Amino acid sequence: MKPRIIVTRRWPAVVERILAERFDTTLNAGDIPLTPTQLKAAFLNFDAVLPTVSDQLPASVFPDRDLCTKLIANFGVGFSHIDLEASRQRGIVVTNTPGVLTDCTADIAFSLLLALARRTGEGERQLRAGEWTGWCPTHMTGTKVSGKTLGIIGMGRIGKAMAKRAHFGFDMKIVFFNRSRIDDDEVRTMGATQLPTIEDVLAESDFVSLHCPGGAENRHLIDARCIGAMKRNGFLINTARGDVVDQDALIDALESRSIAGAGLDVFAEEPLVPERLMRLENAVLLPHLGSATEETRVAMGMKAVENLTAFFEGRPTLDRVA
Ligand code: DGY
Repeated sequence: MKPRIIVTRRWPAVVERILAERFDTTLNAGDIPLTPTQLKAAFLNFDAVLPTVSDQLPASVFPDRDLCTKLIANFGVGFSHIDLEASRQRGIVVTNTPGVLTDCTADIAFSLLLALARRTGEGERQLRAGEWTGWCPTHMTGTKVSGKTLGIIGMGRIGKAMAKRAHFGFDMKIVFFNRSRIDDDEVRTMGATQLPTIEDVLAESDFVSLHCPGGAENRHLIDARCIGAMKRNGFLINTARGDVVDQDALIDALESRSIAGAGLDVFAEEPLVPERLMRLENAVLLPHLGSATEETRVAMGMKAVENLTAFFEGRPTLDRVA
């Protein structure tokens, strides 16, 4: 008998076809997010649950008995939406999809950096509103990117990909904070300097890009005090997780112009974006597009397929996080 699996949202069609061939698959044709009650029922009825980063899986959705699920194969690299302790206690293995979204997420982070520096969002809004009155020497002047300093918080795969784009493409100087020491060839060829504290990086950088995981450990890692350590003409870019930044403190700083701007692809309570943030011209806001390319979304789905296949064939799963 094929393992019974449930996919909580629409996945790329090609991946859904492969899942349907290999497993007894329940798809979500309507793409309507499952309620907590439906998620709880999924754990009682399916051998594997395939959620994604917009599903919330706190301890309360894990049933205490009669559990059928042995694997959560998450579509996404981030897993802070899953209570790993609750899954561990119930003997459920959890996998994610690392590696395949590195470049595309770094591309979006760099797009935010450029959009902030060169005010492209503002420019487009002005033009589409019919408010552009023509070229003049003082019109919408921004900030030059080449040669500036980029600070990276979290020098993992995506942090390094962002740093490479900045250093090799735009001659930027790279400084970074990472909890563990990083001294590998990639970092050395960029001449990137690891600094002892986050505040050191914030104080030295013209642009700061966040690439650390979300979850309790990093909640409000960038708080009002940290934001206060940034340069007045500094920009903050977040493609990691919304809860890494104290969103209210950031909005205060943007409103008072104590920093120059922020580029955000992630928010504290997605898909809610505070009205105060929407009103700000010095914020560039994207709807969590980091991994949103056809190629990457298919690759993420195929990673989940590999994890499922390995697990149900009794082989070790490559991307096990719990
Ligand atoms: C992830 O995989 O965690 C990303 O946030 C999705 O783009």
